[in-house]
Amino acid sequence: MSLQYQSGFGNDWATEALPGALPVGRNSPQRCPYGLYAEQLSGTAFTAPRAENRRSWLYRIRPGAQHLPFEPFGSASRWLSDFGTGPVTPNQLRWSPLAIPDSPTDFIEGVQTWGGNGSPGEQSGVGIHLYTANRSMQGRFFYNADGELLIVPQQGRLRLVTELGIIELEPQEIAVIPRGVRLRVELPDGQARGYMLENFGAALRLPELGPLGSNCLANARDFQTPVAWYEDVEGDFELIAKFTGGFWRAKIDHSPLDVVAWHGTHAPYKYDLRRFNTVGSISFDHPDPSIFTVLTAPSDTPGTANMDFAIFPPRVLAMEDTFRPPWFHRNVASEFMGLIHGVYDAKAEGFAPGGASLHNCMSGHGPDAETFEKASVADTKQAHYIRDTMAFMFETRRVIRPTGQALACAELQSDYYQCWQGLKKHFTPSTPN
Ligand SMILES: [Fe+2]
Repeated sequence: MSLQYQSGFGNDWATEALPGALPVGRNSPQRCPYGLYAEQLSGTAFTAPRAENRRSWLYRIRPGAQHLPFEPFGSASRWLSDFGTGPVTPNQLRWSPLAIPDSPTDFIEGVQTWGGNGSPGEQSGVGIHLYTANRSMQGRFFYNADGELLIVPQQGRLRLVTELGIIELEPQEIAVIPRGVRLRVELPDGQARGYMLENFGAALRLPELGPLGSNCLANARDFQTPVAWYEDVEGDFELIAKFTGGFWRAKIDHSPLDVVAWHGTHAPYKYDLRRFNTVGSISFDHPDPSIFTVLTAPSDTPGTANMDFAIFPPRVLAMEDTFRPPWFHRNVASEFMGLIHGVYDAKAEGFAPGGASLHNCMSGHGPDAETFEKASVADTKQAHYIRDTMAFMFETRRVIRPTGQALACAELQSDYYQCWQGLKKHFTPSTPN
């Protein structure tokens, strides 16, 4: 089967897996084509402005309401939504990659929460998760009422079989699953590892481009939303819901991935990070890392995002007489970073693909001693090509509270602070240059 996608971002999509399955001219005719049920899936308030409004009409074999009652389901207990209220360490934190589990673990069971802020109840904040899995979801389907999911594979492909179509995803691509969309996650490579952000707030979108103009960064045409696809399968299945931080399970006697046609704006999408059109300085210094923003989820405060998703992709550094790596900084925002591929240019070692770091509000960080010394004497008449890398950052306005399991795990690098201890004192009060 050849997969197909529709290109663009936030479009009012229309797609059907059977010819004529989409009703014409009305959303809920008295009788839908092919005997389908009509169902609206709303991702924003009905009255949200048009530019914000997200909703889709689904034409499905059975309505989403048809399942047995939900019961509490605890097996995904490492996926947390309560980040506590106690003090948070201001120390810089870094972790080595998690190992792929030995025991059978599907995507939902393999999610471990590393930190977060806000809550599903507030409809603000994020959950930050790592996942490791070694088998496809079998006989079960999942939806998240608490937020949309931004999935960042690091190792192993994912096949996201959703109500609205199929997304095939490989490392260096990302996918966003909107709030409420049902899916099954399959592992074509038999194992998978990666990162996932759960956005409790307003939906992710492309950042404004301001003086950059109408191009660059992530271009809308490179986002891909699947076409309609369905399965007509009956059996003994379960539907798992994440709702108010808890997990619930309901028996369902058919696959809920039975949407034959749909139209609307509330839909999953994927994006290949290698298509990011990176912008930077061509004279001196370098701009703030907001130029690397792929997607942003706004808060109620203009210009201060609930969450930004930024990447540090391959690029050419040509600025003259400039310290080229990311500078030393202390930010009001909090930064969770991961490395998908290659080497990150601010660290000589210790930040491995699959690993993670957390630098919270006002915690100082930046290049390690080795990177600083090297960049301080680099010949900036020569362009520097960063070719083999793909790092990313989940940046939030609120402090990211690490979970107990993140702070207690063996992968936490207790010696991370050492990377700055070798920075020499170069101060020469009698010699300006
Ligand atoms: Fe930073």
